[in-house]
Amino acid sequence: MLARLFVLFSFFCNPVCCVFQKLYCTISDSCDCDFKPNIRDLEWDLYKNVYGQHLAQDIVSEEVARFLHNKSPSRPLVLSFHGSSGTGKTLVSSMLGNHLYGSAMSSPYVHQFVPTLHFPLPHRVKQYREELKDWVQGNLTECARSVFIFDEMEKMPPGLIDVLEPLLGPSHVVFRTNYRKAIYVFISTAGEEVINKVALENRQAGREREEIKLDDLQEAIAQAVYNNNTSGLFQSNIIQQKLITRFVPFLPLSRYHVERCVHSQLCQRGSCSRNDVVEAVGGDMIYTPSKGKYFSSTGCKTVPAKINFFL
Ligand SMILES: *[C@@H]1O[C@H](CO)[C@@H](O)[C@H](O)[C@H]1NC(C)=O
Ligand SMILES: *[C@@H]1O[C@H](CO)[C@@H](O)[C@H](O)[C@H]1NC(C)=O
Ligand SMILES: *[C@@H]1O[C@H](CO)[C@@H](O)[C@H](O)[C@H]1NC(C)=O
Repeated sequence: MLARLFVLFSFFCNPVCCVFQKLYCTISDSCDCDFKPNIRDLEWDLYKNVYGQHLAQDIVSEEVARFLHNKSPSRPLVLSFHGSSGTGKTLVSSMLGNHLYGSAMSSPYVHQFVPTLHFPLPHRVKQYREELKDWVQGNLTECARSVFIFDEMEKMPPGLIDVLEPLLGPSHVVFRTNYRKAIYVFISTAGEEVINKVALENRQAGREREEIKLDDLQEAIAQAVYNNNTSGLFQSNIIQQKLITRFVPFLPLSRYHVERCVHSQLCQRGSCSRNDVVEAVGGDMIYTPSKGKYFSSTGCKTVPAKINFFL
């Protein structure tokens, strides 16, 4: 009955829909806002459009599917993405938003925080802590199925993110808000040294990239990030209390992967057949280490600019 009433309301009063939606959310625990998850599409997107990241593909699709399968999860899903720039971290976080909400990344329930924008001054940590807590709690009161993406965590003042600690655990429902249905994604380059080292050793040993196992990396990333004073998670309780569901490593990309990025972006521009541009952009990247030149130092980051140059 309530649901039918709500459909009627939202149909007839689109401009004031938000008010009714809020009301509906407060009285009905089944309110899932704009939440229309499509796990199949998410998996397809991950496997088709993210290059060279077998670990991230597996972990993200696995964890998201598991989390959404559970109608009343015991704790929120907290994923922490790590790896060098241009390896696909932001891309994967957008895919989450795109396949979980009706209005994709522009959904009012996908919240993105960028430290240089939202928390630029290190000495204001105290004020930022209050603001961040109020925002997240306010957002969760509006919609329990919210996604919070924290970009560039390495630029986040130390100590700030810990204000979310009570919300990330198996906390009880507070003021009718269910904190346990939220998804948090932390993104940072911190931990890249650990990941890149494992990838390099693997490569030097002549092994396949896919032989890199997650077990080799979980604890090492946690340690590196915890001990790094520019990771946003320096000596963080969130790590100490094991509130991060999974650390997701993004491996450094080889020339083959960079060229796949180029090819895919060329196709999007209707120039699928320009193998000369693929070749030129691939050859124009800087590869490290100097002995072996295995990995692109900027991943796929500068690909669009270089395509513009060579096309
Ligand atoms: C939700 O978060 C945004 C930041 O993404 C903030 O501007 C807004 O005020 C928050 N909403 C509430 C109700 O607190
Ligand atoms: C800490 O993290 C930053 C950001 O990713 C990185 O540049 C730096 O090398 C790391 N420091 C150490 C000691 O690993
Ligand atoms: C961060 O750690 C590095 C060494 O790991 C140290 O040299 C530096 O002074 C530290 N910075 C701060 C702000 O504590």
